[in-house]
Amino acid sequence: MSRQKIAAGNWKMNTSIEEGLSLAKALISKEQAGDNIVIIAPPFTHLHALGKLLQEGSSIKLAAQNCGYEVKGAYTGEVSVDMLKPLGVEYVIVGHSERRQLFGETYVDVSKKINQVVAAGMNVIFCCGETKEMRESKQHMGFVRRQLESNLFHLFEDEMSKIVIAYEPIWAIGTGLTASPEQAQEMHQNIRSWVADQYGESVAAQVSILYGGSVKPGNAKQLFSKADVDGGLVGGASLKADDFAQIIAAL
Ligand code: PGA
Repeated sequence: MSRQKIAAGNWKMNTSIEEGLSLAKALISKEQAGDNIVIIAPPFTHLHALGKLLQEGSSIKLAAQNCGYEVKGAYTGEVSVDMLKPLGVEYVIVGHSERRQLFGETYVDVSKKINQVVAAGMNVIFCCGETKEMRESKQHMGFVRRQLESNLFHLFEDEMSKIVIAYEPIWAIGTGLTASPEQAQEMHQNIRSWVADQYGESVAAQVSILYGGSVKPGNAKQLFSKADVDGGLVGGASLKADDFAQIIAAL
């Protein structure tokens, strides 16, 4: 089996339920048959309705943008993996830089969430990526490597089949600045070789590594043409059905 090509749309804190339903319907109407995986990550409030809609006849998969690190109990405001799974959620985005930076998620929080998702038999979209200052001072490789070591490399080899890695340089998220295809490829190749050092070549060859950060119809094809770029985690451009459909087609 070769590794999967994936286009994942992270809607973040956007869309009303009506807007979310019509965006999903528009995507369903543009769906093409094929082996590529298309994922949408709407707000929590939309998951139930969208899960039902997708189950009625679409191969688009559902993701949550976050999850709690405990299964149940006195955790006001949190949503657990056990609540998400029955809604048809198959993926959970964990470790997004907005969660880490704006909501103070620590390495320990991120690891606990990853463990919950894996234990529930769901898939993780694990985000990593450096700041502008780190890249300028050439610390980006070491930093991303440490993120993988801190958050992923405690997993057992068989659990790695549940992991999708998204490299999202923070300076490229929502800024209109995109890593060049060469910059993306350089980091993705390193990520794959660190996974190979830890788990062996065959695990590394199977893991999908997505690029995220201002992916648009105009740059998707070039980014995805790189050997180690297996697709994209898309924010802003996933909110327009036409744009996201073009990005999917670029896979
Ligand atoms: P962007 O967001 O495509 O709007 O830059 C990407 C992300 O944060 O996943």
